[in-house]
Formats: sequence, C-alpha cells, structure tokens
Amino acid sequence: MLGDQKVLFSGMQATGNLTLGNYLGALKNWVNISDEYKTFFCVVDEHSITVRQDPAELRRRARALLMLYIAAGLDPEKNCIYYQSHVSGHAELAWILNCYTYMGELQRMTQFKDKAAKHADNINAGLFTYPVLMAADILLYQADVVPVGVDQKQHLELTRDIAERFNSIYGDVFTIPEIYLGKVGRKIMSLQDPSKKMSKSDENPNGSIYLMDDKDTIIRKFKRAVTDNEACVRYNDNQPGIKNLIDIYCACKGISTEDTEKEFDGKGYGDFKIAVGEAVAAELIPLQERFHELEQNKDYVDKIIKDNAEQASYFANKTLRKVQKKVGFPERIK
Ligand code: TRP
Repeated sequence: MLGDQKVLFSGMQATGNLTLGNYLGALKNWVNISDEYKTFFCVVDEHSITVRQDPAELRRRARALLMLYIAAGLDPEKNCIYYQSHVSGHAELAWILNCYTYMGELQRMTQFKDKAAKHADNINAGLFTYPVLMAADILLYQADVVPVGVDQKQHLELTRDIAERFNSIYGDVFTIPEIYLGKVGRKIMSLQDPSKKMSKSDENPNGSIYLMDDKDTIIRKFKRAVTDNEACVRYNDNQPGIKNLIDIYCACKGISTEDTEKEFDGKGYGDFKIAVGEAVAAELIPLQERFHELEQNKDYVDKIIKDNAEQASYFANKTLRKVQKKVGFPERIK
C-alpha cells in the first residue's frame, strides 16, 4: 500500500514488434485497471539482455515501448512509466534476493528450460536468475497486484516464495504480491493457426497484427484469417479460428460473446471478418496517431523519462535501504 492506495506493478520486454495479442492481453488491461492503483509500469530492458541484443535496436525498441505505454492510454502524470535500467535498485535488490533463492527453484522454471533450449549457445547466469530480477522488480515497490499473462504465473509464485522466506527471517519487509490474470478469453491466438498464441516472433506475418500495421493491412490479414466451414459465428472450441475472432471483437468493442453472436446471427464469415478488422483498426489507428505525436515530441518524452525514473527511484530506495539494513550492511554515513 502507498497511502490508501494499493500498488500495481507490471512490465514488458522491448523485444520484437508488439502485436495485438500484447495489446489486448496486457496493455489494454493495464489501462482499464490503472485508475484504481498507484501504478508502476516498467520497460524491463535489463531482462532483455539475457539473450543477445543489438544495442542500437534495443535502445530504439525500449523507447518505442515506453511511448506505446503512453499512446495506449496510460497517463504518465498518473502512472510511473520508466526504464528498469534507470533505477539501480532493481539490480541491487536482485543481487540480495539471489542469496535467498535456491538453485533447485530456478531449475524448475519452465521459461528457463524453454529459453535454454532455444539459446543453447548462450545459457548465461542471467538467463538462469531472470526470475529473481523479476521478483526484485515487484518487491521493490511493495506491489499488491501484478497483472501478467499465465506464462508468468510460475515466476510470480516464486516471487511470493522468496518474499515469504525473507519475511520469515527478518520480519515484515515485503508485501506479498497477488497475481492478476485479467479476464478469461483474452489470450489472442494466431490468425493463421488458432492453436498457437499470436506471437511477435511468428515467421508468418499474416498470423499476427502488429500495433503499427496500417488499416489496409489489418483488414487484409483479417480477411485471410483461418476459420472453418461451419459458416456460423458461434463461440465454441470446435471453431477455434472464429472463437479467436470473437475474442478480439469483444475485447475491442467491450461487449460480450453473446452480443457478438447475436449481432452476426445469420451473417457470413466475410462480413464478420471485415467487422473485426474495422473494430481493430478503430482501436489501433488512434493509438498510432498518439504514438507518432510522441515521436515528434522528444523533449516531452525525455522529461517523462527523467521525472518518472526519479519517482521510481525514490520508492525503490526506501525498500532497498530497509532490506540492506535487515541483512546487515553497514549504515550509510550522512
Ligand atoms: N518476465 C515478464 C514477461 O516476460 C516481464 C517482467 C519483468 C515482468 N519483470 C516483471 C512482469 C515484473 C511483471 C512484473 O512478460
């Protein structure tokens, strides 16, 4: 808690071009719930270097992601939007928490196993301790809630275990964070293969809608979306392509599946696909406009980056100093 407000923390990596899946699954949820909390939205660039990055490209993407948070509707005056690497407390707390995390716990992390298999030539110690840095991100701000996708659930559980372990030795230092999984049915699947998650790393660009796709591209991709030959817009597991399109439509319009089924009762897939494309374009085009405005407005964005990093550092240092004292580091001489 900060004052009478609960604290919400979340972050995203600046790797790959963000997709509609990232937007509807994460960003839009953040925007919807942000008013109820004191929020910290971090661009987790330190996590990104656990796999090799091109430095110029990482810097460009990190800035683009930060602007995208704002373009999506997070007011940077009300939400603390910042780069992880600008607040040294993340790395400092991560080091301490490393000493309270067991090898066996980290070895069980499925994301580590997946990434180690994918990057067999670079299984570095950072990749292994990635979840500890994530725990530090969260615990540094005494976060009450952490909205993440299900793929991060295991990391969140580890965060809670580390926090509880630390608290059981040193007293109430950390708030134990709750995972916030968002609404069901918001996992957006590939338009070309509805059994797979829509992914920034998909080789088939027609499977994903990228946040910067123009309207024609969006409509074209939806027209080509894989469906079935049932020829009716109904929400069920036997029609995974249509189910996914309904999820997308509902998320953009803020309506229920039943409303969508009613609206398209008796209509063909052609009409429905175009309507979904239009709904997505109506959501993304204004976001793109705000993004381009921010790109033009370098000084404004720079000021946000500076001010918000200072604000984040203030809260981070409060926790860090407490932790340093607890574990027995010498007091700072003022
Ligand atoms: N690991 C998260 C992901 O890949 C990103 C992340 C890093 C994060 N630190 C976080 C998410 C803290 C929530 C809270 O999606």
